[in-house]
Amino acid sequence: MPSCSVFPVSATGNDMTPVPVHRPALPILATINWPEGTGTPDPATAAALTAAAEKLANGQLVAIPTETVYGLAADAMDPDAVAQIFHAKGRPATNPLIVHVSDESMAQTLVSQWPDIAQKAAAAFWPGPLTLVVPKADAVPDIVTAGGRTVALRCPSLNVTHQLIKLSQRPLAAPSANRSEAVSPTTAHHVLEGLGNRIGMILDNGPCEHGLESTVLDCTVDPPKILRPGPISAEQLAEALGTNVCSSESEPGGAGQGSAADTVLRSPGTQQRHYAPRTQLTLSEDAPSVIPQLIQDGHRVGWLCNSPEDNAVQTLATSPEVLVVPMPNDPAAYARSLYATLHALDQRGLDRLIVDDVPPGPEWAAVRDRLKRAAM
Ligand code: TXA
Ligand code: MG
Repeated sequence: MPSCSVFPVSATGNDMTPVPVHRPALPILATINWPEGTGTPDPATAAALTAAAEKLANGQLVAIPTETVYGLAADAMDPDAVAQIFHAKGRPATNPLIVHVSDESMAQTLVSQWPDIAQKAAAAFWPGPLTLVVPKADAVPDIVTAGGRTVALRCPSLNVTHQLIKLSQRPLAAPSANRSEAVSPTTAHHVLEGLGNRIGMILDNGPCEHGLESTVLDCTVDPPKILRPGPISAEQLAEALGTNVCSSESEPGGAGQGSAADTVLRSPGTQQRHYAPRTQLTLSEDAPSVIPQLIQDGHRVGWLCNSPEDNAVQTLATSPEVLVVPMPNDPAAYARSLYATLHALDQRGLDRLIVDDVPPGPEWAAVRDRLKRAAM
């Protein structure tokens, strides 16, 4: 940890000897100004990317934007650098990391076998919000895969992320840039709030496009299985792959159960309480009946509400104890705003969050999955 010299005033007020005082250092917050679809970044952005690539090459951590959520990146081939990710997040060593690659050929350097299904999925959805679980090459450090024989690979579509992987000339291990189990960050300020002085640099590219983490597809089983639902749906995968795809909701145990012979394959991050705000969150089919009782019990309530125009909502919204947040009816828009809403409400000192249940359709699978885990 860096230190700085200050002149402390002693109890007697006359001891002016400089002594080193250890202060937590704040990360460099570098603004990225590189709209998608434009050729090259401006000079300040190019310099920030070069500095970030240097830090990564030196074994340091950098928080990076992606099209899904912000990630906490380190050189995937450097076990000491990867160990810092686990440390900064407080992540159990049993939960493997996703490795980000610039293209399919970099992916193939990290695998012992590139299954047909992975090849088809990469051709259809890379670069993009799809992570493929495949057999790992020996060169991938065990710490990345939590000792497992598979590795999760993703090729992000965001120009900034792509450029950073190319500049640093190495695959980047990057879980979401939050403390373990907490809500993933969709802005640089969320990263700052959650990890602050635990990291050296954050690249600030504004809010993420999707706002929910990538779909994770296990390509080592037949049929391939979704371990974590995300922006790429089971239907889209089935159509592109020309095969049945096991969706995480189609089995009684849900995501991550019995996906393959390797125990680590069970995507631990999809089994536990996860994506949870600090404020206790409850999913409700009938919030207008639940909330009055909570108010009566002296609670201050935040309500993620799907039908703000209802009379019952209008009545409850007049209570100073209730903060109503109207949520979008479109699943992609809901996904984009969910984590930002949870981060914001966590700052309000509320006692409870009540979230209206979302509709049952497959287009809501990813949102439903995150809400269920946040409510555990
Ligand atoms: O969108 C995303 O995927 C973001 C951005 C930063 O790319 N990353 C992300 O990483 O969400 P993380 O670590 O928060 O979630 C990775 C998930 C976890 O549930 C983990 O258990 C699972 O992927 N996973 C990683 N490696 C795996 C493997 N070899 N087999 C099965 N599941 C794996
Ligand atoms: Mg995560």
